[in-house]
Amino acid sequence: MTLSVIKADIGSIGGHVAPSQHLLQTVRDYIGKRAPGLLLDHYISHTGDDIAILMTHTHGVDDEQIHQLAWDAFRAGTDAARQEGLYGAGQDLLKDSFSGNVKGMGPAVAEMEIDERTSEPFLFFAADKTDPGAYNLPLYLAFADVMNTPGLILSPNISRGYKFVIMDVNNTAGDRVIELNTPEEMYDIAALLRDPERFVVESVWSRATGEQAVAVATSRLHNIAGKYTGKDDPVMLVRVQMNFPATGEILAPYAIGHFVGGGMRGSHQVPLMPVHLNTGISYFDGPPIVSCAGFCVHNGSLTEPVDNFAHPFWDTVRNRVAKKAMEIRRQGFVGTAMLPMFELEYTGIAEKLAVLEKRFVVREAKPALAKV
Ligand code: F6R
Ligand code: MG
Ligand code: MG
Repeated sequence: MTLSVIKADIGSIGGHVAPSQHLLQTVRDYIGKRAPGLLLDHYISHTGDDIAILMTHTHGVDDEQIHQLAWDAFRAGTDAARQEGLYGAGQDLLKDSFSGNVKGMGPAVAEMEIDERTSEPFLFFAADKTDPGAYNLPLYLAFADVMNTPGLILSPNISRGYKFVIMDVNNTAGDRVIELNTPEEMYDIAALLRDPERFVVESVWSRATGEQAVAVATSRLHNIAGKYTGKDDPVMLVRVQMNFPATGEILAPYAIGHFVGGGMRGSHQVPLMPVHLNTGISYFDGPPIVSCAGFCVHNGSLTEPVDNFAHPFWDTVRNRVAKKAMEIRRQGFVGTAMLPMFELEYTGIAEKLAVLEKRFVVREAKPALAKV
């Protein structure tokens, strides 16, 4: 059985805020009509301006038919978005024609092929106005840090540790990856994950059983398009319980509200806010948000989702994250409030600096005073 989630921003109302009901319905209708015979089940939702299609099927990962289905649904959605005059219609569909796999074409993909357990609980995360490195810290804490995950000392199989597959997303020529094991290579993992704009957790695997626990969408849109086309807004699938961390151990790190790259014009450091399913975007084209739908899947059939960040506990977190966001915004454009030059998603500043460069002068040194 394969879990696939494919997501794209294909247009939204009132700026980069949220898709229209008509757009969502168009994507739902398209998938609904073509699902019989191809999909076992599906669930369509939005987080900010992104629409995600979660699918269960038996065709494995990177399957052409599955990718084509999602691509065609997003194309149909783009037509609907254009009819309504939505902003950024078709924004993430960077290529004109489908060529076998949506990877490298704009949409984000996270997939894993699994042997379904008797009960198969898993979590589907979707984040908007940020990039794939946003999951680095929560995954490190959940799978490697006993301060967060007591399962690492209480459960024998979890104690055997996990294999992290980490990708260097700056390497545009191909997938540059490294495999590192916990607990013995924890510091090496930390050394890479401290730079979430470059090194991104792509997957996590149980060392006790070899089973895959996590799949993260790692695409970087600006690497594909060569220019700013919106942030990458990553989706992620995480299997939970038994040989994997418990749901609560996976969710706990989101209480930090850690700073991630994104927010306004994809160019700032803003804290990540855990939100309800189907939440839009607001303050400072952000703050970056993450939603989490919990499911059980049985013979490929999905239960209804449980909204993991809807619990009252997260209201306090949201209030604190809002305060953190306003606090760093007081610093405006200076220093850490904005991402480093290389990560800025708009090229305007580079052009401005190139012009100013020519106006710099080096003062001539004053002649030394003659000794009397
Ligand atoms: C889009 C985003 C926004 C836009 C901003 C300007 O995902 O993060 O902050 O970058 O609203 O949008 P444009 O350049 O489309 O006018
Ligand atoms: Mg958008
Ligand atoms: Mg988005």
